Amino acid sequence: LEPKTCNLSSGESQLGASPAALKAMRSSLSEVWSYRYADDIPLRQTLAHAFHHSLTADQFLTANGSLELIDLICRALIEPGDECIICSPTLSAYAEAASRAGATLIDVPLDPRYFELNIPGLLGAINNNTRLIFLVSPNNPTGSLVTRADMDSLTRQLPARTIIICDQVYYHYVTEPGYGPAINYIKRGLPVIGLHSFSKAYGLAGMRLGYAFSTKAIIRQLRPYHRSFPINTLSMEAGMAALNDHAFIKKTVRFVARERKWLYNQFGNMGLRFWPSQANFILLRTPYEANIFAGHLEKKGLLVLEGEEFVPKGCIRVTIGTRPINKLFIKAVQELI
Ligand SMILES: Cc1ncc(COP(=O)(O)O)c(C=O)c1O
Repeated sequence: LEPKTCNLSSGESQLGASPAALKAMRSSLSEVWSYRYADDIPLRQTLAHAFHHSLTADQFLTANGSLELIDLICRALIEPGDECIICSPTLSAYAEAASRAGATLIDVPLDPRYFELNIPGLLGAINNNTRLIFLVSPNNPTGSLVTRADMDSLTRQLPARTIIICDQVYYHYVTEPGYGPAINYIKRGLPVIGLHSFSKAYGLAGMRLGYAFSTKAIIRQLRPYHRSFPINTLSMEAGMAALNDHAFIKKTVRFVARERKWLYNQFGNMGLRFWPSQANFILLRTPYEANIFAGHLEKKGLLVLEGEEFVPKGCIRVTIGTRPINKLFIKAVQELI
């Protein structure tokens, strides 16, 4: 197998899109002339069903990818004088959206050894001006988790106006038992907003579809910032079909867990430092300067993420590929070492 370029830089699904979503989109193609969906209610009803009705349809808000939701949440909730907490290294979209909305950013970096949350640091940084705390779990680019214990201690001590945003777009890939899913806190009425996406395990990144879920009161504050006709027909159909494509998700989750383990063994055999990941990518310390290493990989047809502000210095983030692609990657790394 000698593909021209393997893109292992974007965390995309390596098994393609959900077949059920593709089928649904194909059969709706002839209807795209119509303003079919004035609102996202059918998708929200499907979501409520997928959540076993632990949340109602009015506890969801859908948009064109979770990136649009991050922006919407910041526009809706941030007021002058507000502070927002991020935990670097993490996706830069949070800092960008919060700054655009006028917030002061407070960074409480993750512990650099294992990229765990710095809970004492966070508790020290939270005050009455803290509006949003962005927690990404599994985190991009580190693959690390916010644990149930972390969520418990943070949600116990929040000032009245503070809301925790839990970006859990990689949640399907989590195998760690200590994970703290946002839904558990929302069900208890705590001020938490969960974010999920169809871009990752469902393989629909190009359809731009994601959703937020929270308490009724918080979603009520966000909904006025939603446009009418928020989601295009094909994305609506794809999302509703994908939520029921359990076989594809099962296959994807198994594939990622298996290949993640295989890659850990290969990295271990080569003596490379990596951070165990709960997502579909792995952060890897490079044996020499990361930009030169990534450049050499690119010449061999393998694109990895490097040089972005949120990727730690001396590291690359590599998407977990299929076995033939992973073998190519490992062979290339061995040659470069
Ligand atoms: C943690 C995290 N949140 C959100 C997104 C954006 O996802 P979407 O495609 O739903 O906008 C990404 C994309 O890589 C991500 O890594």
